[in-house]
Amino acid sequence: MSDNNRLRIAIQKSGRLSKDCQDLLKQLGVKLNLREQRLIAHATNMPIDVLRVRDDDIPGLVMDGVCDLGIVGENVLVESQAERAAQSLNAEVTKLAKLDFGYCRLALAWPQELGQLPLSWFEGKKIATTYPEILKQYLKNQGINASTVLLSGSVEVAPRAGLADAICDLVSTGATLEANGLLQGETILESNACLIQNPSMDNQQKQALLDTLLPRLKAVRQAKE
Ligand code: PRP
Ligand code: ZN
Ligand code: MG
Repeated sequence: MSDNNRLRIAIQKSGRLSKDCQDLLKQLGVKLNLREQRLIAHATNMPIDVLRVRDDDIPGLVMDGVCDLGIVGENVLVESQAERAAQSLNAEVTKLAKLDFGYCRLALAWPQELGQLPLSWFEGKKIATTYPEILKQYLKNQGINASTVLLSGSVEVAPRAGLADAICDLVSTGATLEANGLLQGETILESNACLIQNPSMDNQQKQALLDTLLPRLKAVRQAKE
């Protein structure tokens, strides 16, 4: 049974943000035993449960109130909000803080043998991405008609596999693009990890705990500056 007075925080189970999220919780004084491969980790020193899930699931879990808080990339948050809005689902979250990790860019990329390309080249082309809503909005704003192919992973192999002409994916170090012979083009969105909250969290005990965590978060960030 879940205890309704425990603050539930969703973080990425494995991926770019996992390590930094775990470090942040530790710096906030949350003691967790994350060695076990369990979905939920109970903090031993405060009423906090940490759910370790796929990053793409985090915004929805917070929007639906399944979790009170979540740490997620702005890229994933913006995409989920657009997706949910398109389905007339509630897409509201409160952004409590922008965090100082998880920086990346969502950018267009294409086979490097094509050399530098103007945006107009994308007219009528097929672009593989995990972020179709953000990409469609961008293309619309730029007046480009291109189709999107949704891939939830291995986007970088799409051109070589003949699934698309180009891609729109996250770039952090650039190693993935380089390893796949892709050239980075326009940046569509810059992103950092952020802390989000369900706006209708209505529980005094949870709120009191959150009120002790937020100043600590501020102190941790100031100490790093
Ligand atoms: C992104 C992206 C690339 C990689 C790029 O995946 O899809 O695979 O990071 O990083 P690089 O420029 O440093 O090589 P990410 O792990 O963020 O998300 P995912 O696991 O949800 O695909
Ligand atoms: Zn993901
Ligand atoms: Mg990836």
